[in-house]
Amino acid sequence: MRKLTVLILLLPLLLACQKPELESLKNRFQEDFFIGAAVNLAQVTGREVGADSLLELHFSSITSENGLKWGPVHPKEGEYNFEFGDAYVAMGEKMGAFTIGHTLVWHQQTPAWVFQNGEGQFLNQMDLIRRMEDHIATVVGRYKGKIDGWDVVNEAFEDDGSWRKTHWYNITGTEFIKAAFRKANEIDPDVELYYNDYNVWKPEKRKAILALAKELRAEGIRIDGIGMQGHYRLNSPSLDQIEQAIVEIHDAGFQVMFTELDVDVLPRPSDSEGADLNINFAESPEWNPYADSLPQAVAQELAARYVSLFQLFRKHSDKISRVTFWGLHDGRSWLNNWPVRGRTNYALIFDREMKLKAGFLEGIE
Ligand code: GLA
Repeated sequence: MRKLTVLILLLPLLLACQKPELESLKNRFQEDFFIGAAVNLAQVTGREVGADSLLELHFSSITSENGLKWGPVHPKEGEYNFEFGDAYVAMGEKMGAFTIGHTLVWHQQTPAWVFQNGEGQFLNQMDLIRRMEDHIATVVGRYKGKIDGWDVVNEAFEDDGSWRKTHWYNITGTEFIKAAFRKANEIDPDVELYYNDYNVWKPEKRKAILALAKELRAEGIRIDGIGMQGHYRLNSPSLDQIEQAIVEIHDAGFQVMFTELDVDVLPRPSDSEGADLNINFAESPEWNPYADSLPQAVAQELAARYVSLFQLFRKHSDKISRVTFWGLHDGRSWLNNWPVRGRTNYALIFDREMKLKAGFLEGIE
């Protein structure tokens, strides 16, 4: 009898002790999908205090934010820099995390020498493909068994579904894509292979991506999933548009992943999709309205947006394998510098003090 009374008295305390575990994101979504974060050099080398414990508590997956892109990892011909990559996969192993390599072939953050010969002339198709295959063999080979999934090709399409006219495309047509997937599979037949892009919610873009993915499969080239980057805003895209994409990618037989999730809360200059963005915007308070703090009403809108996104993800957890945030906390988000530099954005669910924002987990059923 007395034991029972003690137990009843202790019950609130016991429940309180359980709380941290319940509030761990990765535990919360354990049955649904991996929860990931993109990480940088300071975080994987322990130089950013508190990052490793936050990652271990909340995240079951990590993505290399910049460190495995061609520029950082292979800056010059014959010269590789694996400082980030080695620390990154060590962290992934320590965390027991599903570890993503981002990205093997992209038109950005790829040095000019990649496309040129010693005389500065563009390579022909065969030489460029050979160079790309060497890069893939070296990087995928080094992390074989340590990286679980690779974004093989990033952003090969424009939003209207036409091919992006990059050096890759101009020199090789679509051959670079096929060769990249083939090579990655040859080097590590156990690693998952993805195509990754933004605005996959746009039907015309998605149609083109799925046509490519099906073509690869029809030719016997392995591709496991389509990554939807998920750089969203408070009111766009709509949940219906995102849901349509989840369903269609799944119906086509590919894994669905949200690979770079964030929600921009700041206003954008009207030409923000153009290339002529001007740093002067940063000096205008008009483009940096929440420099000191986020107004309560916008914070609530942000929490509600995240809750509704995660409700949708959960509804389709049988189709979605991973949801990754593009950055660990607001202080590290690329959206502090794009499309206007030097702003204070609030795009993630951990604030600048690495605290989980109010209203996020509570709202998700
Ligand atoms: C794209 C790329 C990412 C990153 C973001 C912005 O989404 O896939 O690697 O560069 O842009 O930082």
